[in-house]
Amino acid sequence: MDKIIVEGGHKLNGRVRISGAKNAVLPILAATLLTQGKNEIREAPKVRDVNTMVRLVKELGAEVDHFEGDHVVLDTTSVNNPVAPYDLVSTMRASCLVLGPLLARLGEAKVSLPGGCAIGARPIDLHIKGLEALGAKIRLEEGYVYGTAKKLKGVHHTFDLVTVTGTMNVMMAAALAEGETVLCNAAQEPEVKYLADVLNQSGAKIKGAGTDTIVIQGVTSLKPFDCRILPDRIEAATYMIAAAITDGDVEVLNCVPGHMEPIIDKLRQSGVTVETGENSVRVKGNGKLSPVDFTTEPYPGFATDVQAQFMTLMTLAKGQSKITETVFENRFMHVAELKRMGADISIEGNTATVNGVDHLSGAPVMATDLRASACLVLAGLVAERDTVVSRVYHIDRGYQDMEKKLSQLGAAIRRVK
Ligand code: UD1
Repeated sequence: MDKIIVEGGHKLNGRVRISGAKNAVLPILAATLLTQGKNEIREAPKVRDVNTMVRLVKELGAEVDHFEGDHVVLDTTSVNNPVAPYDLVSTMRASCLVLGPLLARLGEAKVSLPGGCAIGARPIDLHIKGLEALGAKIRLEEGYVYGTAKKLKGVHHTFDLVTVTGTMNVMMAAALAEGETVLCNAAQEPEVKYLADVLNQSGAKIKGAGTDTIVIQGVTSLKPFDCRILPDRIEAATYMIAAAITDGDVEVLNCVPGHMEPIIDKLRQSGVTVETGENSVRVKGNGKLSPVDFTTEPYPGFATDVQAQFMTLMTLAKGQSKITETVFENRFMHVAELKRMGADISIEGNTATVNGVDHLSGAPVMATDLRASACLVLAGLVAERDTVVSRVYHIDRGYQDMEKKLSQLGAAIRRVK
């Protein structure tokens, strides 16, 4: 298995271009199932989860006309298989995004219960409740979700909790349901709004996406689409933190600063200079980091997907910070690894108390999930001596060319097979 070796102590300088968002392209690939014809997807990030989702829609009957670099062309004319098998779904939780589209398109779906990151129970009960509200009949058997729907019907539905992919799944099914659907307590993430925008270009009638109430007038069919994936705000935030932790000066290109406001605010509070442009952010260290407290929340709050990386930054702040995780119940697995590098962190319930230390020391560490693996690379950038990160397949799920991008900024980082 590959490992990444980082030699700490190099300031990052220069420019880095952000790739398309993993969390935007996965629902878009699932949404192709709602259409019949050739869909073009541009600026798709070159990450393993995209390969998995393309394999999945192919398994369901789509033809992959082109899949090179960041350009995917999928012909969904002959989608006919309602079965999303365990071997594909188990490696990526977002595979459950095909459930709503399959029910809407074929009237049936058999989707393996998902796996994915080990950051909590992460059930899909809220997806199922929403689809049942639209009239689908769903049962769980032998690790699979079986669903049938003669005709999906519009409904007023309130999600018990804010769920990102749950909102997307039900919104996609409702796009082809009969009549009006109103989804309350919907997720407001930019990727939800982006999905609605692309569906609207295809002929869907969706209003309010990006707020907590989405209103969908069902239509009978959707045209294929041609879309450019919006930039990855989590990747952008990771490079912003990389600049801050190495006391460097990095311009992060191809990002939407408005999608990262809480992170920009917290970086500024920590003493880092952040200048925002229209599609870029420049982050400059000021030689000293102040501690800041934060709590993760659904968008527009501080993203849980940046919690681990920001915690790494706080391990070197001058003082104590408190970090509270409210979205996932088990998202502090990186703490044990950071402590092996000399960080001073204690956990009580869902709050981590971080006492800043003078320095981190390189050590062999193990990535436990996608964002936790990024936080260990960030720690390695500033640690004394080498850090060896194993299980980097987690990084490959969601970060395109991470070693290459960091090397171009001046990091000493390499991958060994
Ligand atoms: C999405 C993102 C992921 C991010 C997360 C939270 C994608 C592909 N993934 O994941 O990167 O970390 O949002 O911002 O977009 N829950 C239930 N029942 C459900 C669904 C969710 O109890 O049916 C709970 C989860 O266990 C979790 C919380 O709701 O505690 C939020 O999860 P959710 O928003 O659904 O996360 P994902 O959509 O899986």
